[in-house]
Amino acid sequence: MRIFTKLSAPLCLLFVFLCLKIAFSSSIHASSFPTTHLCSHEEALALLQFKTSFSINYTVYIPGLCDSKANYSKIESWKEGIDCCSWDGVSCDNVTGHVIALNLSCSSLYGTFPSNSTLFFLRNLQSLNLALNDFRFSKIPSEISQFTRLKHLDVYFSQFSGQVPGEIAHLPKLVSLNLSYNSLILETTTLRYLVHNLSEVRELVLSGVNLTSVNPRFFMNLSSSLTTLNLWESELRGNFPNSIFRFPNLKNFYLGGNRNLTIDLSSSNSSSPLQHLYLYDMDCGRRLPESIGNLKSLQYLRLGCNLEGSIPASIGNFTQLTSLDLTNNQFSGPIPASIGNLRQLTSLDLYSNHLSGQIPSSLANLTQLAFLDLSNNQFSGPIPASIVNLSYLDLSSNHFSDLVEADMFSVLQNLETIFLSDNNLSLRMNVNANFTLPMLTDVSFSSCNLSEFPNFIRHSNGLQSLVLSKNSIRGNIPEWICEKDDLEILDLSHNNLIGKIPNCLKFLSVLNLQANYFDGNIPFGFPEGCGLQNLNLHGNQIDGLLPRSLVHCRMLEVLDVGNNNISDTFPQWLESLLELQVLVLRSNKFHGSVQSTKESSSFPKLRVLDLSSNYFVGALPIRYIENFNGMKDPHKDGGSPKYMMVSTGANSYQYSLVVTWKGAERELQKILTVFSSIHLSNNKFEGEIPDVMGKLSSLKGLNLSHNNLIGHIPPSLRNLTNLEWLDLSSNELAGKIPDELVSLTQLSVLNLSNNHLVGRIPQGNQFNTFGNDSYEGNPGLCGIPLSKSCDGNGTQPSSFQEKDELWRFGWRVVVLGYGCGVVFGLLMGYLVFRTGKPKWFVSLFDGRRSQSGTKMRKARRIVQRRS
Ligand SMILES: *[C@@H]1O[C@H](CO)[C@@H](O)[C@H](O)[C@H]1NC(C)=O
Ligand SMILES: *[C@@H]1O[C@H](CO)[C@@H](O)[C@H](O)[C@H]1NC(C)=O
Ligand SMILES: *[C@@H]1O[C@H](CO)[C@@H](O)[C@H](O)[C@H]1NC(C)=O
Ligand SMILES: *[C@@H]1O[C@H](CO)[C@@H](O)[C@H](O)[C@H]1NC(C)=O
Ligand SMILES: *[C@@H]1O[C@H](CO)[C@@H](O)[C@H](O)[C@H]1NC(C)=O
Ligand SMILES: *[C@@H]1O[C@H](CO)[C@@H](O)[C@H](O)[C@H]1NC(C)=O
Ligand SMILES: *[C@@H]1O[C@H](CO)[C@@H](O)[C@H](O)[C@H]1NC(C)=O
Ligand SMILES: *[C@@H]1O[C@H](CO)[C@@H](O)[C@H](O)[C@H]1NC(C)=O
Ligand SMILES: *[C@@H]1O[C@H](CO)[C@@H](O)[C@H](O)[C@H]1NC(C)=O
Ligand SMILES: *[C@@H]1O[C@H](CO)[C@@H](O)[C@H](O)[C@H]1NC(C)=O
Ligand SMILES: *[C@@H]1O[C@H](CO)[C@@H](O)[C@H](O)[C@H]1NC(C)=O
Repeated sequence: MRIFTKLSAPLCLLFVFLCLKIAFSSSIHASSFPTTHLCSHEEALALLQFKTSFSINYTVYIPGLCDSKANYSKIESWKEGIDCCSWDGVSCDNVTGHVIALNLSCSSLYGTFPSNSTLFFLRNLQSLNLALNDFRFSKIPSEISQFTRLKHLDVYFSQFSGQVPGEIAHLPKLVSLNLSYNSLILETTTLRYLVHNLSEVRELVLSGVNLTSVNPRFFMNLSSSLTTLNLWESELRGNFPNSIFRFPNLKNFYLGGNRNLTIDLSSSNSSSPLQHLYLYDMDCGRRLPESIGNLKSLQYLRLGCNLEGSIPASIGNFTQLTSLDLTNNQFSGPIPASIGNLRQLTSLDLYSNHLSGQIPSSLANLTQLAFLDLSNNQFSGPIPASIVNLSYLDLSSNHFSDLVEADMFSVLQNLETIFLSDNNLSLRMNVNANFTLPMLTDVSFSSCNLSEFPNFIRHSNGLQSLVLSKNSIRGNIPEWICEKDDLEILDLSHNNLIGKIPNCLKFLSVLNLQANYFDGNIPFGFPEGCGLQNLNLHGNQIDGLLPRSLVHCRMLEVLDVGNNNISDTFPQWLESLLELQVLVLRSNKFHGSVQSTKESSSFPKLRVLDLSSNYFVGALPIRYIENFNGMKDPHKDGGSPKYMMVSTGANSYQYSLVVTWKGAERELQKILTVFSSIHLSNNKFEGEIPDVMGKLSSLKGLNLSHNNLIGHIPPSLRNLTNLEWLDLSSNELAGKIPDELVSLTQLSVLNLSNNHLVGRIPQGNQFNTFGNDSYEGNPGLCGIPLSKSCDGNGTQPSSFQEKDELWRFGWRVVVLGYGCGVVFGLLMGYLVFRTGKPKWFVSLFDGRRSQSGTKMRKARRIVQRRS
């Protein structure tokens, strides 16, 4: 189980950086070494002049990518009167005194790069590193060709833009070139010159450079001394020739992230010195051929191209491999036993495939393994837990079905993360067990049939997240939880816990105690600066008032106290919480009216409001509705879906939420950030439905049923173009159903029953899919689907009863089919229910493997730290 959304950007960058470092560590060294030769006055002057071209802007510095100091620029040490060869980032020839290398990476340089820069006076320069600065979309000056002795050029991530100048091909001595992650375009003619002229080039890094117009074939003309070729995310298209595997010196080859690029792996039959191979988010053919085993020098292999079939046994030939990442493919069948040959392996990641069968016992021979992620597959049998070096173990969402004695983990003394959720495991604690896992930070034992708290966690002092949801743990929360003052995420939902909620839990970021038997009031006096982001106490027996000190929790995003016995007035004092997105008070004893005291900016980000089944009175909260900006701006659903979550360091945890949908309470396992709904049903709201309701254009669901609302259905509801379910039933609404509602083409559930509506039911679009039950209890309505037809004017039912039952029957069948399609779409779109799934729902999600439980993902730092 893992998270891509929020984490992926920084992780990707870090990852890219590490790879680039691997590629470049061998070539760029410009640390100033001591020298007795003073640099020439002219060169010192040129450097000082260069310095004045830029301002120093420390916000340009990117922590995590830069290893130099923050809030410091190398050029701050450049001062007149000091030998320039001793300046930071400057290196001179120890015989001639000429400046031969400049390393200005991460120097917080900010400003356009002048094409007449005095830098070009440094004709002896052999190495120039300008990476990780901000040149504000300057062009790379064509004057660069004046550096005829240049061997190394690195402008990684430094905000250059435009065409890569052809003059770059006039640097015949160039050995390494890194243009990655700017806004550069490399034209095919430039590339042709480049590969032709740079006969010495060994390292070519063009990731993130726009290569749309380049024919991949031209890369085959590169010098045979090539050791590194990085074309990540460069919009390459077409076929990449697999003769690349015959380059005699190629060690690092990165091609991922080019969706319209194809490479054929089936004839990689020659042996190759390749050590790092990354192919993902592209087309690598359908199956992984046995011949892949010929790449015997591989140390790091990442393949993620939707490959099918089994993992070939020949991977056992990769005896040098330290990291194997086959995530996000569709591999099926068992892991080949030959995996036991990969004695150097420190990281094995098979997340999200269709792998099945038992884990081969040979896995136990991988004694170096620190990171093991087999989650989201169909593995069965006993769980592998005898690899003593493991720090990260994720086996969640498989079919492991075993009685697991917790004692078996006692050997894993390096363990930091253990996720076993959502299998058929029964995890048993030995009462006499007395072991501890001192390094443990993240634990998820959701659905592990636990009947008590895992006592071995008791002395894991670094614990940051603990998820024990969906078990049958009884009794009180143990007191030792209060000693875990790092702890940020605690999810004990869906257990049989009783008693009062311990006061110490107020320091968490996420507290989820949903569906237990906690009673008493909420004991917290939340302190100033409270960091709480998600408080979920849904479905307990909590009474008393909502603590007013919740206003100190400025980060609060979700407050769900539904299904309790809280007796309070509407918490309008929460309206100043700028981050609040979900407020659920349903089924309590809230009372009084719901009115804003403020003119504007109340609940600006609120997207889900559920006040149903309380004792609220008075008019609908017009002023709030006017200010719900979070529901007004329908996010364009472009890009990948984003879910609400909290990130703590490298981990993240996805929120879940109970919603009422089609009359039943269901739990959303994830909350899409575009999900938006208002539930005010089962109260005593009165008056009319305000026109401004039509402004909440991103609403997916609106339920005002079982109130005392009067007047007409406002035609402005036509503006709720995202609306999928609308329930106005059991009110006193009168007049016609506005024809405008026909434009609600997303609507799949409509309930207008038990009102005083009259006239002809609108026809067309979704209205052709609703049945009688949408309208019953409105004697004045007529027209399809009701059996009453309308009079000539369409204002009254005619006395004539529709007779053609046969026709009606046929019509209903067609319509049902259509309606189901819409509901499927609705569910596929953003609802992932945890319980009460209909059968077809399960099968729909088989292909997509809905993620469940906590979503936490440790960065690969564990492995990186080890190796
Ligand atoms: C500093 O750089 C940032 C971009 O990294 C920019 O937004 C900001 O305006 C710059 N500040 C100054 C004073 O130029
Ligand atoms: C750099 O300076 C800023 C502002 O003064 C400060 O917030 C930040 O913590 C500093 N960073 C480091 C690493 O010292
Ligand atoms: C000059 O530096 C080179 C390395 O750049 C080194 O091999 C050589 O020994 C040095 N010569 C002197 C005289 O220090
Ligand atoms: C570079 O050109 C600009 C104008 O284009 C000029 O102001 C500046 O003085 C020139 N710098 C040098 C070092 O010649
Ligand atoms: C890449 O360059 C082409 C023109 O060569 C342009 O049409 C395309 O939009 C660019 N892609 C990106 C992502 O900028
Ligand atoms: C891939 O090609 C198709 C059409 O050939 C185009 O619509 C799509 O944008 C391309 N995707 C990428 C990521 O370049
Ligand atoms: C590679 O693996 C295959 C299948 O395991 C095996 O038959 C073959 O002998 C291996 N090749 C070498 C050179 O080890
Ligand atoms: C593990 O390695 C040993 C040799 O070091 C070998 O005898 C044994 O068969 C291997 N176990 C498995 C299950 O492959
Ligand atoms: C458990 O182990 C700790 C030390 O690790 C020891 O102090 C304690 O007495 C042990 N308790 C029992 C019941 O064995
Ligand atoms: C509904 O949309 C129309 C235009 O599409 C706009 O004129 C009208 O003001 C909107 N009504 C409301 C209540 O927002
Ligand atoms: C149709 O409407 C007209 C004018 O509103 C009315 O005079 C007439 O009686 C209506 N016809 C029926 C059949 O209701």
